[in-house]
This record gives sequence, C-alpha cells and structure tokens, in this order.
Amino acid sequence: MAIKYIDEADFEGKRVLARFDFNVPLKDGKILDTSRIDLALPTIKYILENGAKKLTLMSHLGRPKSKEDTQFSLEPVAEYLADKLDVNLVLAPAAVDAGVKELLTLNETKIVLLENLRFHPEEKENQMEFASKLAQYGDVYVNDAFGVVHRAHASVHEINRFFSGKNYAGFLIEKEIQALDKILISPTKPFVAIVGGAKVSDKIKTIEKLLVNVDKLMIGGAMAYPFLKAKSRSIGKSLCSDEDVTLAQRILKADRSNKITLPVDHIVASSLDSKAQENLSPDIPEDMMGLDIGPNTVSQYVNIINESETVLWNGPMGLFEKEQFSNGTFEIAKALANSNAFTLVGGGDSVSAVNKSGCADQISHVSTGGGASLEYIEKGELPGIQVLKFGV
Ligand code: 3PG
Ligand code: MG
Repeated sequence: MAIKYIDEADFEGKRVLARFDFNVPLKDGKILDTSRIDLALPTIKYILENGAKKLTLMSHLGRPKSKEDTQFSLEPVAEYLADKLDVNLVLAPAAVDAGVKELLTLNETKIVLLENLRFHPEEKENQMEFASKLAQYGDVYVNDAFGVVHRAHASVHEINRFFSGKNYAGFLIEKEIQALDKILISPTKPFVAIVGGAKVSDKIKTIEKLLVNVDKLMIGGAMAYPFLKAKSRSIGKSLCSDEDVTLAQRILKADRSNKITLPVDHIVASSLDSKAQENLSPDIPEDMMGLDIGPNTVSQYVNIINESETVLWNGPMGLFEKEQFSNGTFEIAKALANSNAFTLVGGGDSVSAVNKSGCADQISHVSTGGGASLEYIEKGELPGIQVLKFGV
C-alpha cells in the first residue's frame, strides 16, 4: 500500500490532529534553530487553508524524565508558531487532559498545541490507551514528524489504529522520503558517502549497508581513529574504544573493493584546549590527539566529491564546535554546496555545520531527521511510515 499524502485528504469541517517534530535546540528558553518548525509550516497552512475546523498540534521536545522537567515545555515553540502563523494559538497544559476536549469546543479556539508528549511515559511505551486519548482530539490524523518516525511511539505509531483510512503524511515527510529514495533506489553514479561523528558502533549498520551501494566511503571525525588503529597506525591519545576497533576491523574485512577512504593527515593537539597543529602523516604521535582531518585529506575528499554525481554526508569531520578544529567540516560543507551532484546531508551535527557555514540552501536536501534518515538508509523502512501504509 502506498502512503496517503495530505493532498488526498478532505479536511473540510474536520478536527485535524497532527504530529510534528518540534524537537528544536533550546538555550535559556530561546530556540537556537527553528528549521524543524519552519519546515512544518507548509503542512500546517495547507490544513488550515483546506477548511479544517480545529487543528491540534502534537510534538515531543527533548528527553524529559518527568513533567517536572519544565525546561522541556513547548512554550517557546507555541510562541514562535503563533507569531509565524499570525493566529491565536493555545498551549494546552498537558497532552492528555479533560480540558483539551473542552478547549476544542470553544468557538474562539482554532489551534491547540498539546504540551510535550514525553511528559507522559506512555508516549515512549507506545501505549494504546494513551494513543486512544490523543485520538479523541481529531477526526483525521496527519503525521509530518519525519525526525521521529524511526521511533514506534504512541503519537506516531499506535495512534494510527484509531484513524484507519484517515491517516495521512504531510509535505515534509514526502520531501524527505523522496530525497532519501533518490539515494537508496538507483542513485546516479558515482555515488559517494562521507561518514563522520564520534563512534563506529553508532553507525556500523549504516556503514555496512552503504558499502554495498557506494563507490567510495570517506571516513572522518573521531570515527576515523578506530579504523586507523585497525590498520596498525598510531593514533596517540585520540578518542577510540576497543569495541570500535573490533567493529572497524570487521568493516575493513568486508570492504573487498577498497571503497573505504581514511584520513592521510590530521589536525592534532595535546588536549582539547591546546593549540592546533598540522600533522602531515597518517600516524599521530603518542602525546597528541587527532581532532580534525588534515589539509591533504581535505583536498583528497573534496576531489572525490567533485567527481561524484550523488553525495551523502552524515557526521562532522572533527570537533567543529571549536574553531581551531572546524576547517575539515566546513570545507566538506563548502564542497557539497559547490558540487553539481545530488547532495544530501543528514544528522544533527552535520546539519548544524551546514547551517553555520551558510550554504544550506546550496545543498539538494538537508534532512530534519538524523536518526530517522540513518535508519531509513539502513533498513529501507521506518516504523512510523510503515503504519501509515499498512496500519498497526
Ligand atoms: C531527534 O531529534 O533525534 C528526534 O526528534 C527524535 O528524538 P529522540 O532521538 O530523543 O527520540
Ligand atoms: Mg535523536
């Protein structure tokens, strides 16, 4: 069965219940990056413009332990949405509360944002009773929360049980799936991937899956050191666990056509706060740690990107939050922006690097889902998408 998208839905006079991923980075109550909310706006506007009588918005935010964790309130999101949509929007004090249904009967209330779903442990438990309470707020259900469709949680999974034939995906999910399918289903060759980040164990399954399809797989960031160690290089004090070295050995063994490309040089320092130095050899001295890819690695990786037709990037090339270790990550971002290839960036850190470098609009697709995009690449399906197709 195919996913039904919202352009097939009839919203006229209906109460619409819609799940988004408004899990945005916050600092002191301020939203640091509004992209996830901005990218939800077309779906919200479409629902309103197509006659919905009431609209109830749902989301999680962060990983609160209980509802006492008030720093995870969706209040900043409510304020931002009200401003962007220029409407009167009510933040319901709790996601499941007798007051919500009452609120929805009031003439003056058109849009309600439910407070953080994860204030209720039942959300993550994918509990049917919790889902059934949420389901009472809508006649029709819309899911546009791409960032969380890899989680079988009540508001994205079990809830579909109550909307058989009346559950739709929004425009953001449509865009994300189209972009990812371009990479998964017959990508234009050469197809290369750049994978970085901290741990091999986090991404091993994705790497193994990618190795089958890509022409080259460039590795950077802390993830490179277990690979170098597995190849008997010295890595000094660089971040590296024995478990990751074992995993790297397994991957290298599987890589019969030598698709994996490792850094040939590094930016090193004696500690995270020490002065950065170029280390123009693949080997790192004992008293140093690698914190970014070196200049020769950058030009090698950029050359490979320039010769490719499809490029996937996930994970930074170094500790880019610190300026002295950010060059590799930003040079990769620039190379993707300047490339004519189909370029896709996923994963919170690489997305924020692309945003910081100011070239996000030159990337073919910047995914709002780090975990979700990786899991889709690995498995070719996601629980929250599967239920939209086949039901619970
Ligand atoms: C994310 O930012 O990764 C998504 O919103 C999902 O959140 P989670 O990783 O806490 O489940
Ligand atoms: Mg996550």
